[in-house]
Amino acid sequence: MVSDRIRILFNRIAPVYDQLNTWLSLGQHRIWKQMAVKWSGATVGDSCLDVCCGSGDLALLLAEQVGLPGHVTGLDFATAQLAIAAQRAQARYPKPPLTWLEGDALALPFPDNHFDAITMGYGLRNVTDIPGSLKELYRVLKPSAKAAILDFHRPSNAQIRTLQQWYLEAIVVPAAKQFGLTEEYAYIAPSLDRFPTGTEQITLARQAGFATATHYPIAGGTMGVLVVMKG
Ligand SMILES: C[S@@+](CC[C@H](N)C(=O)[O-])C[C@H]1O[C@@H](n2cnc3c(N)ncnc32)[C@H](O)[C@@H]1O
Repeated sequence: MVSDRIRILFNRIAPVYDQLNTWLSLGQHRIWKQMAVKWSGATVGDSCLDVCCGSGDLALLLAEQVGLPGHVTGLDFATAQLAIAAQRAQARYPKPPLTWLEGDALALPFPDNHFDAITMGYGLRNVTDIPGSLKELYRVLKPSAKAAILDFHRPSNAQIRTLQQWYLEAIVVPAAKQFGLTEEYAYIAPSLDRFPTGTEQITLARQAGFATATHYPIAGGTMGVLVVMKG
């Protein structure tokens, strides 16, 4: 099954995933993740979810935002990623208000209308059913609550798009090769080719039931944050 292949892939890259992301984005991915936390509308004391949490970067930032009166659940289906996330949280003082959960973004193990805010970083491009994933986010969000979904984006400017394609082929894949992970990182370019544009994401979000949906292109349009609100 496709999702099994994706899970195996993310288990395999887990040990170097953070280091490689920080290097390849020159540290910028933390800023983009911080923007997603802000746009999710999460505030102190909130109960939040980070879907496709991987090694926990975004969930840790979300936990800082909600503080000790709040709580964050980080959910992913790759156990090796979750193990690293748990180690990272354990090394922090005070211990962040976080729970790590193995689960499927396409069948979230929570009741309806449960969370005050949701984030998802580089997950929507990887799920096998994007409309189904958006419907699940909609279902578990409380009324009037928001989700902020960060991912790669194909810039509308042709020159920047060419630069992005060159970067993925000439920098990202060779860098991953150093870690023996060529195949694992070569998947980014084709997955981005298939990924809906910001405008298409808005349409899908409205079809999933969201009352409002806005897509914010960032980093010259090479990344984007889809912000959706349940009515
Ligand atoms: C590119 S990583 C992003 C990790 C993290 N959010 C970040 O921004 O660094 C994508 C993650 O999505 C997870 N994933 C993909 N499909 C999933 C699904 N159906 N259910 C749960 N996790 C999934 C993978 O295991 C992987 O950890």
